[in-house]
Amino acid sequence: MTKTKNQITNLYDAFGDGSNGLILDWGLSLYIEFKDRKILFDGGSSVSILKKNAEVLGVDFSELDYVILSHDHSDHSAGIDTVLDVNPTVKIFLPNDYNIGGQSEVDDHKRRSRYHRGQLHYCDHGFKIEEGIYMIATTSELVGNFYRYPPHDKEPRLDGLPEISILLVDEENEKRTLFVGCSHSEVEKIAVKASEFSKGESVDFLVGGFHLLPYELPQIQTVVKTLQEKAGVNQVAPAHCTGEKAKGVLKERFGDEFFNLGVGSRLEF
Ligand SMILES: [Fe+2]
Ligand SMILES: [Fe+2]
Repeated sequence: MTKTKNQITNLYDAFGDGSNGLILDWGLSLYIEFKDRKILFDGGSSVSILKKNAEVLGVDFSELDYVILSHDHSDHSAGIDTVLDVNPTVKIFLPNDYNIGGQSEVDDHKRRSRYHRGQLHYCDHGFKIEEGIYMIATTSELVGNFYRYPPHDKEPRLDGLPEISILLVDEENEKRTLFVGCSHSEVEKIAVKASEFSKGESVDFLVGGFHLLPYELPQIQTVVKTLQEKAGVNQVAPAHCTGEKAKGVLKERFGDEFFNLGVGSRLEF
């Protein structure tokens, strides 16, 4: 019996070969074919670039089942409008962030989101979209909106940034793949949370932006050790904000199970 082939195509990144008219730009957008589902994870920084790269790579956004926005930063969100032009009622999963229409602690006013044309589902906790497709919700303690106004003028507040990641579980191939956008919540914490969410099962394959750009070598090594030992990661496909130094460490640690995921890269999983 032939096993299902799942595939990742990187539509948007500042790294890659830029052949066949592909445009390189800072941001991330991954097109994921999983079983019979077609998913867009993030939308890069620009409508026109995402549209162009999708055309070059033969990706038709009218066929998408789900759009998932990892967090409200424009290098992941801005291109999504091009999807809504051709697939206006697509289901969009996004973090519960009041900047993009989510609920706020201080007011329950129903906002119009810039993505109001789609069917919006805000996520503030982990849940199952359907069998094999799970949302993992985290909050970054390192970035977010910063307050130093009365009554907190002597006590600055950082409210954190809500973020979501996707865990795809393929029972047939016995493989669990975690997709991260920009890992502001720290990639090792997201991976451990994904493994806890699924009752301690390992995250076999980790894909996306690991956000290790600012880290020095010892910190990168600690992160990689946690990924391997606490989350069970044995395969990686870093992209976007992972950083070249971290990619070097990952390549050394994972060997043949390291895949550099630049724009235009296609990878079966
Ligand atoms: Fe970000
Ligand atoms: Fe980013």
